[in-house]
Formats: sequence, C-alpha cells, structure tokens
Amino acid sequence: MKLILLSSSLAVMAGGLVIQSELPGPVKAHLNLLQDAKSLKTDFIIQKLGGGVEKASILYAKGGMFKIDTATTMTESDGKTIWIFNKGANTYSEIPASLAPTKENFVWAWAAFFNPDALKGTKEYVMKGSRTLRGAAVSEFSAKMANNKEFTLYLDTKTGVARGFGNSEAIILATGDIVIGKTAMEAKDFMFVAPAGVTKVEPPVPDKVTFKMVKAILQANCLPCHSSSNMKANLSVDTYDGVMRKVKEGMPAMSGLFTSVTGTKPSMPQGRAPLSKDDVDNIEIWIKAGAKDN
Ligand code: HEC
Repeated sequence: MKLILLSSSLAVMAGGLVIQSELPGPVKAHLNLLQDAKSLKTDFIIQKLGGGVEKASILYAKGGMFKIDTATTMTESDGKTIWIFNKGANTYSEIPASLAPTKENFVWAWAAFFNPDALKGTKEYVMKGSRTLRGAAVSEFSAKMANNKEFTLYLDTKTGVARGFGNSEAIILATGDIVIGKTAMEAKDFMFVAPAGVTKVEPPVPDKVTFKMVKAILQANCLPCHSSSNMKANLSVDTYDGVMRKVKEGMPAMSGLFTSVTGTKPSMPQGRAPLSKDDVDNIEIWIKAGAKDN
C-alpha cells in the first residue's frame, strides 16, 4: 500500500500539456482547481470492496511535496527525498523521489493536483445525479479510464473538487473538508523528523516493476533489431535470458540495457525517438530491484 499511495504524488515529474476536450465542464473545473491550488489537505477513508475500511489523510503541496498518513505508514516528501515511516515496526527509510514509481494512482481522486495528465484518456462521462455522501452534496459521474476500466467520480457541488472516487477495487471518500491552499508551502515543512526511538533501515526496493512490464517496453521499441531472428549486439528481447545478456542485476549503470537508453542522446533505440521517462525509470527500477524474471 505505501508505495502505491505515494506514487500518485510523484506523477508531478511526468507533467505536460494535455487537451482535455472530452471532459465535461464540472470535471474540467475540478482539474483546473487542483492545478491552481498550492496545497490540498483532506482526511478520507479507503473502503476496499470485500475488505475493511482504512482511514488516511493527505497533505499535498506543489513542488512534489506531500504527507500521506495511513494507519500503518506515514510517507512524506520534500520533493527531493521520500521518507517512509513504518509505524508498526518503528522504522523509517528514505529513497530519492526520482526513484519512486510513477504509474499507479491510489489516491487517484486528487492525482490531478500533481499531474495535469491525470485525467488524460478518461472518457464516456455520464452524469448520474446528485446525492449526499458523508454530509456533503456531490454530483456523481461515471466514466471510463483509457483502458476501459469503469470508475465513478464524486464532485463536491460546493467546492467543485472531487470528494471521492470508486472503481471495481475500492472506494475513496473524503470524510471532512477538502482544504485548498492558495499560498505556496515550504520544503522544510515536509522534512521528516524521526520520532525518538525510531530507527533507520534500508529502503524496500520497489519491485512493482516486473519483467513482464519491461519486456513489453522492449518489445514495443527494440524488437526489429534485437530478436532471436535479428539479434544485433547479442541482445534478444524475446526472452529473459536474451535480455539478461545486457543486464547486471542491481546495477543499472553497469547494464547496457539501461545505459543505452539514458543520457541526453541515448544511443538506443537506434533511429527512433528515445524512450519516455516512465519507460526508462521502469527499466532502472526493475534492474535495481534485482532484474527478476517476474
Ligand atoms: C533500428 C534497429 C535498432 C533498434 C530499434 C534498437 N537497436 Fe539496439 N542496436 C542496434 C544495432 C545495429 C546495434 C549494434 C551496433 C551499435 O552498437 O550501434 C545495437 C546495439 C545495442 C546494444 C549494445 C551496445 C550498447 O549501446 O550497449 C544495446 C544494449 C542495445 N542495442 C539496446 C537496445 C534497446 C534497449 C533498444 C530498444 C529500446 C534497442 N537497442 C533498439 C540496432 C537497434
């Protein structure tokens, strides 16, 4: 849960301009409000379908700064470093913000605060009506993600910002006010101070990136020149063993698979556009985590 939770906030690094032509007015307004906000604060519950209810809270600030507090974990970042405090074990670890995975968005309802592309590709919005949820009036929209997964978005009719989000796995609902700040916050307010008696441990290497994901990236970009039937430089992206000939487990900087696609002028994929930052990050994370065949 902890890495999933924090990743939404890190989509900040993957920003860019989007044309949100398909979004209905109120959803566009939600996106604009979050983009204009300097900070965002709310308590919420996570209700997993078929599971229990968990309480959590977020404080987001522009500049990639955040605090995400759950019953088990407090994750905090000043935009450069991410600290993960494990409340049960009384330990914490830190990782550079640049190494956090950017993909999943558990706190998706508010992901647009950091990522202007958060709603990109969402479609088929249908206004379902108005209702009261946890004491607040909301308008309910059902829609689909780019991958056709259905979701529901609950927009606060008073503030215009989402109070929640639901899909086939979980529902997230704000339980109090959603506080939108108009003044910038400072990095020093997001620096983790370890409580007395809390010890520092090695960070858990995120192993969320699987070989399956890396293989999909390689097959989309490298296959014409690095397959078992056309194997340039002894690299074949058809198989795990074929890929591992250019990988040193745990060491991206020593792995041709990574070094060839990084830098200001990556040498690979030859004659094609460089890989996206997300793709490069995922290859790095996968190698760092031991380059497992998963
Ligand atoms: C259009 C053909 C082509 C594509 C596409 C291509 N490569 Fe290559 N690659 C080559 C050729 C040719 C060589 C050997 C000569 C050289 O090094 O330039 C090579 C060599 C390499 C090497 C060994 C040399 C080095 O730089 O370490 C690696 C690693 C590599 N490629 C990785 C990749 C990856 C990863 C992709 C996809 C993201 C990719 N290549 C896509 C043609 C291609």
